[in-house]
Amino acid sequence: MIRDVAASPLARLVTRYAWRHRWSYLAGGAFLWLTNWLTVSIPIEIGRAVDGLRAAEPIGRFVAAIAAMGLAVIVVRSLSRILIFNPGRDVEYELRRDLFAHLLRLQPSFYALRKRGDIVSRASNDITWVRTLVGYGGLQVVNVTLAVGLTVWKMVELSPRLTWMVVLPVLVGMAVVQWAIGRLFRLSRENQEQLGEISEHVLGSLQGIATIQGFVAERAFVERFEARNLAWFATGMKLAVIRAAALPLLVLAGGVSMYVLIAIGGRQVLEGGLSVGELAAFTALLMVFLPPLRSLGWMLSVIQRGRAALERVFELMDAPVERPEGRGGIVPTAGRGPAIELRGLDFAYPDEPDRPVLSSVTASIDAGSVVGLFGRTGAGKSTLLRVIARLYNPPPGAVLIDGVDLADLDLDAWRARLAVAPQRPFLFSDSIEANVGLDPEVSPARVAEAIRQAALEPDLSALPDGVATVVGERGIMLSGGQRQRVALARALVRRGDVLILDDVLSAVDHATEARLVETVASLAGRPGAPTIFIASHRLSALRHCDTILVLDRGRLVDRGRHRELVDRPGIYRDTWQIQSQRSARAAAAS
Ligand SMILES: Nc1ncnc2c1ncn2[C@@H]1O[C@H](COP(=O)(O)OP(=O)(O)OP(=O)(O)O)[C@@H](O)[C@H]1O
Ligand SMILES: [Mg+2]
Repeated sequence: MIRDVAASPLARLVTRYAWRHRWSYLAGGAFLWLTNWLTVSIPIEIGRAVDGLRAAEPIGRFVAAIAAMGLAVIVVRSLSRILIFNPGRDVEYELRRDLFAHLLRLQPSFYALRKRGDIVSRASNDITWVRTLVGYGGLQVVNVTLAVGLTVWKMVELSPRLTWMVVLPVLVGMAVVQWAIGRLFRLSRENQEQLGEISEHVLGSLQGIATIQGFVAERAFVERFEARNLAWFATGMKLAVIRAAALPLLVLAGGVSMYVLIAIGGRQVLEGGLSVGELAAFTALLMVFLPPLRSLGWMLSVIQRGRAALERVFELMDAPVERPEGRGGIVPTAGRGPAIELRGLDFAYPDEPDRPVLSSVTASIDAGSVVGLFGRTGAGKSTLLRVIARLYNPPPGAVLIDGVDLADLDLDAWRARLAVAPQRPFLFSDSIEANVGLDPEVSPARVAEAIRQAALEPDLSALPDGVATVVGERGIMLSGGQRQRVALARALVRRGDVLILDDVLSAVDHATEARLVETVASLAGRPGAPTIFIASHRLSALRHCDTILVLDRGRLVDRGRHRELVDRPGIYRDTWQIQSQRSARAAAAS
């Protein structure tokens, strides 16, 4: 897990987020004080009115005061809520904004080891709980403290002895409730983690809905969901039971207090130690005293849930971004394709550190050259390209860009020079135009040019709205080849110094392939041209490369131009023989 939060999460929340709203909190607190002061003053006036009635004095004055105070309470109470709840919304907004920005900086290696559902749940549910904590929770803490403090103070003014007797049962009740708090915290955290698993399951199932339905696997997925849902339900019930047990306990304690008040206070009135009005005031004060205590159970659970949520949110925020250049990275010179040197590059994915995917790959790549990558499926072509794009960090000294260790380069500056069309491109549920020019600064003319270069134009005429066609969730409306070419156009728009084409030429017909090869040729060869990588199984697409690297199970087994490689025995020549025979047969058949 991503534990290990340095300062207490609550202290960090206050200093980093809540502190700037201190004036609002302070004003809200003042209004809360006023609310409570008015609330405890009303019983005193009631007491005076009762004694006034007994002495047959006019009581209009008291009634007017009680009514005025009652009205004032309504106004002041609303003001205090607004002043304290609104910063809660602000904190929620700021926290969510910071968290999202941080999530976007974390590298794929971080996400490889984590469940998306859990992350989604932290970014949505948990942040909402934090808002409840700083808004409602904060308000209640101040409110309960003030209400209890002020009523007890007023009670003491009336009769200190009676106050102790009345407050004692409540104190006992609270001591018991205190025990429940620790359990609430642990259960809340568990409950929130289970909710994360539920989100993960729903997300995963929706993404794979076609597979689930195609394989009639609905029942299996429902059953797996059921198990998670039940687990969540069970901890939810435990939470409810603890909360439910704590509440009646406090109500019971309140009942005992009332009994003590009437039994002992009543006798004092009969013996003349207390006036009837004073007893009435005391009773009214007790009625004011008890409701905040009742909300204590709910308040404690809000606080515990909020604390658990806060811990989970900060865990994500504290996940380190693997960017060594944060300590001062070297900014590469942009504007021309770099020379790239691989020096005994070993690589294994972080989730399987013992399984090498690339083993001592050594190669020098000239600046501005077109490099083909060939190898059977699983040979490590995509992995090599991911390492060059630094989606994963290479070991120090293994990849040099114009003589500088890739690990020392400023990551953002390096990425700004890259244009990548990945093997499994991700399209957003937006128009083709927006998917190609991800950056809104990119001009429509440049988008149109990239679409033409990516040989996407013929496909556009078949789509309902041309470039404005919305491609559906993850590009579901497009064919595999179209999706790849949208990704290719997205890469071409960037005019990067390093162009990475991972298998984009695989799902296209021969005419389209020829056009794309032409596009690549038009980019290459000029001074300042980008360094281009093309990974492909189709050798016809690699024929014109300046050099081809042949990978086999993570090792570089051969390299050379197409002509040289077909002259030597090896997997390249074997593949060439199969593919050229096949295309000769296809030509003969047509
Ligand atoms: N994200 C990942 N996490 C762990 N292992 C991975 C990951 N991606 C790929 N691998 C493993 O790395 C090895 C090389 O995969 P890679 O995708 O680089 O092959 P490839 O040469 O691009 O294959 P293809 O021609 O099918 O695209 C495979 O054995 C694969 O199982
Ligand atoms: Mg691949």
